[in-house]
Amino acid sequence: MTPDPKHDPKEDPVRHHVFDGIAEYDRRLPNWWLLTFYGAIIFAIAYWFDRQIFARTDDAKDIQAEIARIDAVKLAAAGTRDDPTLWKMSRNPAFVTAGADTYKNTCASCHGNELKGGVGPSLVDAVWIHGSKPLDLIATVENGVPAKGMPTWGPLLGSKKINEVTAFILSHHPAPSGTE
Ligand code: HEC
Repeated sequence: MTPDPKHDPKEDPVRHHVFDGIAEYDRRLPNWWLLTFYGAIIFAIAYWFDRQIFARTDDAKDIQAEIARIDAVKLAAAGTRDDPTLWKMSRNPAFVTAGADTYKNTCASCHGNELKGGVGPSLVDAVWIHGSKPLDLIATVENGVPAKGMPTWGPLLGSKKINEVTAFILSHHPAPSGTE
């Protein structure tokens, strides 16, 4: 730019160098521009601390949680009820957390908060009266053992909650190899 001859040099001084006949004004950056510029720097620093130092979660955890949620929806939608599916549910936090809720409200009074037994037998030891397979547990929970004081839960809880509470019990046991 060639300096404008009418231009007052005190207001916006022209810088000393000239390249290819082009000189430039030494103009102060407008305040709104400086504000966005410094604002962006402060935001970047705060954002970095928030994500890298104080964040309770990170991308890997977010992805794991989202995959677990999708798996849970898929498992529930498939409606399959067999041993491998129940073992899979038992490794899925969505089922296990829901099952833990049901357990606390309906089962803990007899089987204990830690599942170690009370009126009812322990559900974490290796001793099973009615079979150790996931479908055996489902059958016991659904039909109960009325003669021995284990209520019949099928009509009360429905199959969704029974799947979840069974997954919760199984989550305390090692899954067979091949279960993800
Ligand atoms: C009123 C007490 C009581 C409640 C509540 C209760 N149970 Fe039981 N449960 C028992 C008793 C007693 C037995 C043992 C039955 C037997 O000896 O055949 C038992 C047995 C079982 C078994 C079989 C254990 C084995 O060794 O084979 C499972 C599984 C089980 N209960 C799960 C549950 C779940 C899940 C709930 C909650 C939805 C629940 N129970 C609620 C009393 C209870």
